[in-house]
Amino acid sequence: MAVLLGLLVLSAPTRAARIAVGPYLQAPSETSMTVMWITDVNAVSWVEYGTGESLDQKAHRSRHGLIDADRTIHTVTIEGLAPGREYRYRVCSKEIVTFKPYEVTYGETVASDTYTFTTLDGRKDSISFIVLNDIHERNEVLISLTRLAQSQPFDLVFLNGDILGHIENEPQIIDHVLAPCTALFAKQTPFVYVRGNHETRGKFARRLPDYITLPDGRYYHSFDHGPVRFVVMDGGEDKRDTDKEYSGLVDFDRYRAVQRKWLEAEIRSEAFRKAAFRVVVVHMPPQPSERWHGPDDMYQTWRTLYNEGKVDLVISGHTHHYEIRPPVEGVCEYPTIIGGAPQDGAATVVRVDATADHLRVTMTRDDGQIVGTYAIDKVKADSAAAL
Ligand SMILES: [Fe+2]
Repeated sequence: MAVLLGLLVLSAPTRAARIAVGPYLQAPSETSMTVMWITDVNAVSWVEYGTGESLDQKAHRSRHGLIDADRTIHTVTIEGLAPGREYRYRVCSKEIVTFKPYEVTYGETVASDTYTFTTLDGRKDSISFIVLNDIHERNEVLISLTRLAQSQPFDLVFLNGDILGHIENEPQIIDHVLAPCTALFAKQTPFVYVRGNHETRGKFARRLPDYITLPDGRYYHSFDHGPVRFVVMDGGEDKRDTDKEYSGLVDFDRYRAVQRKWLEAEIRSEAFRKAAFRVVVVHMPPQPSERWHGPDDMYQTWRTLYNEGKVDLVISGHTHHYEIRPPVEGVCEYPTIIGGAPQDGAATVVRVDATADHLRVTMTRDDGQIVGTYAIDKVKADSAAAL
């Protein structure tokens, strides 16, 4: 019997966690990059990385002195990196098979393939980024727009809201955001999730931050890359907080007021003022409206700060109607680029190429047609739009 038991132990299958989705890159900066992935079982995880052939450095996440060991969602921030430098990396996970107070047993280590990323660089002469919006879970639209954009390289991707229709569960986030983005670009190019009003809806909406990395834990934030200061804002919902659709569970008037305070400080910051260009990415465009309270509130409060800070460009979505709104003196003194709808023939991808001298915006529809361009030169009088 002992022999038999021994044979059973020897023939037991070895266990290894499976990487269900990822790795995908988040929260890029000049000196750090966050890598995320999801395993099918709880695991202890780390990233191996380096600048040469060998991945000779290792990063993991610990909080309060404890290395993460009780989760399937893995978030590892690699710090101490050099600006504008390419790194190679792979992610590794090891299932925790038993987790007793004084005895932990592990499964075998699973490792991803090796990929590369490049840190941001405020001194880079020219950068490019793309913006996708209002996909509403139509993966085929996300795929076709991204493939169109991939005819030219880009440094960053902004998911500018309403990529999801509402959030009910984890598979929805994986199936319509994380998996397609990982397959298309996110292993090597980070995406910035700009929350849309639809991503505030549904019982799982409060869990979205677990699946992405929000700088300083906020959906609104700012960062630099090349000649651009990016300001990401979160408009919340489009209707009043008291609207019956929200069942008394939202608090966006206060949230937008908090962001106004933050924006006041942002436009006075040295980084904002010294940037060659200042670009706001926000799902809903501010506009006066008696019916739509959210955009109206943004219009009444944030717009004046955009004007005061001399914002060069606002990129939005939400209206499901692509257009370019030129600046209007004394009202919105900046152009607003509004990406399209989820329907075939109405979806768009916005591409921006920036140097210290100019911004060039190109809006391409899902059929490959360029449907809008906008040029901003350092001397604003030279700006020109075409749609
Ligand atoms: Fe929207």
